[in-house]
Amino acid sequence: MTQLSAAQTAKSSSPDGSKALYGGKGTRRITVRDIAAAKERGEKWPMLTAYDAMTASVFDEAGIPVMLVGDSAGNCHLGYDTTVPVTLDEMTMLSAAVVRGTSRALIVGDLPFGSYQEGPVQALRSATRLVKEAGVGAVKLEGGERSHRQIELLVESGIPVMAHIGLTPQSVNAMGYRVQGRGEEAAQQLLRDAKAVQDAGAFAVVLELVPAELAAEVTRTLHIPTVGIGAGPQTDAQVLVWTDMLGLTGGRVPKFVKQYANLREVMSGAAKAFAEDVVGGTFPQEEHSVH
Ligand code: KIV
Repeated sequence: MTQLSAAQTAKSSSPDGSKALYGGKGTRRITVRDIAAAKERGEKWPMLTAYDAMTASVFDEAGIPVMLVGDSAGNCHLGYDTTVPVTLDEMTMLSAAVVRGTSRALIVGDLPFGSYQEGPVQALRSATRLVKEAGVGAVKLEGGERSHRQIELLVESGIPVMAHIGLTPQSVNAMGYRVQGRGEEAAQQLLRDAKAVQDAGAFAVVLELVPAELAAEVTRTLHIPTVGIGAGPQTDAQVLVWTDMLGLTGGRVPKFVKQYANLREVMSGAAKAFAEDVVGGTFPQEEHSVH
């Protein structure tokens, strides 16, 4: 059964009895059938990355319906320069923490570079670890036509797959960090990639750094939801890396990021205030002491 036909048979699609994916307390985890039903309703939804239990619990309480344990953890959590060095062991550990910190969101675990490129059997072995050891509800992998055999086997084996096309950061050494799909030939390739992952059974597809008009065309063409990042306003869902969205990332952030807070400033200010209190002898005080 395809993801869409599964959704068509799902009568009540929301975890809390209401229709909307976003918000609500929820009495069960969101599933890929809920995601498919949201596309049918024409409903937009937010996705954030998460790499640890505590941050994930905040987003879960805020009603974020889908969290991606992205291999952006490489740059944003583990201190690597790119996503390339991230290992399956690291993704399994981080994904398990995010699952433990949440009760409502669908948790998508990213398959890191080198854990699925050898072929479908390697992809199944790696995805099985994320599902069994970490407890994720779905996995994500990069690549369109080139990854369709991997997606097919995972879906056949009962593992929901979110695909990822356009800019695929695991290929940074080959493609750099450039807008994808510019020009007729590249646009046609992106459309072929989008159809290939849908035909292979993916339940959703991330479109990263592609022109807004092309992302809109892909969104109209597909029956699975598109999740945009740097892909304009017409995709079904939007994803941001949480450390970018909350202003924790140091240095330059991409143009497509909207910063909703400046956690770096807040945390730095708090750390300095603590240090000054300790150095000046004003912390701890009586109320912080035990006798
Ligand atoms: O790893 C990640 O965080 C991602 C998102 C940017 C889609 O792939």
